[in-house]
Amino acid sequence: MTQVIAIDGPSASGKSTVAKAVAKRLGFFYVDSGSIYRGITWHALENEVDIHDADAVIQNTRSADWVFRAEQNVAVFSINGYTPTDELRTARLSEAVSDVASMPKVRAFVNDRLRELTGLGSLTIDGRDIGSVVFPDTPYKFYLDADPAERAQRRYRELVETGEAEKAQEVLESLKRRDAKDSSREEAPLKVADGAYVINSTSMTIDEVVQAVIDKVEGDLR
Ligand code: DC
Repeated sequence: MTQVIAIDGPSASGKSTVAKAVAKRLGFFYVDSGSIYRGITWHALENEVDIHDADAVIQNTRSADWVFRAEQNVAVFSINGYTPTDELRTARLSEAVSDVASMPKVRAFVNDRLRELTGLGSLTIDGRDIGSVVFPDTPYKFYLDADPAERAQRRYRELVETGEAEKAQEVLESLKRRDAKDSSREEAPLKVADGAYVINSTSMTIDEVVQAVIDKVEGDLR
């Protein structure tokens, strides 16, 4: 039977690293749901669509040819034949994406794609509402958190590695702005899903978090 492991939480809580590693260890496909919101935002910006105009954004999204496929154990997509990667991580796009992700029709589009992806096999998906809205019936729900200062440090180190370093204080401010938008929006706000297993990773290593998720999933499967 296909299984879904939902890993939700705020920005830079380690969700994607953990979800990817858990997927690999269990032989599941890894799905980064935030990258689909980022892809929609990127495609809108490319076509010079007003990203505050929800009708224009959804029309631009629906009229594109989206193809999802598996590459190794990761689900990836192309939009009109092109697979954006680094373009999805720019500071401009990171600021814009929270507004696009608050649009109900955009969320419905993403949720349909995520549910279709179960056709690939078992999935580990990271996001904000995977356990609360997209797959509320999955028994494997995790909420990964860490203190804001620690999350800002982690994001800062990532940005330094990719040569996109902003000042540490700016990283913290931008993170807080996004958390506030993602948690306060009306549609599917970031929250702990009913029955989710909460892990605060502030003083844990990635391996410890991965092991905690696997222990919980395997304990439940036993
Ligand atoms: O995880 P991320 O930073 O790549 O997510 C990008 C944006 O999309 C962020 O503003 C939160 C939003 N998002 C969402 O609302 N629901 C999801 N399931 C995943 C991401």
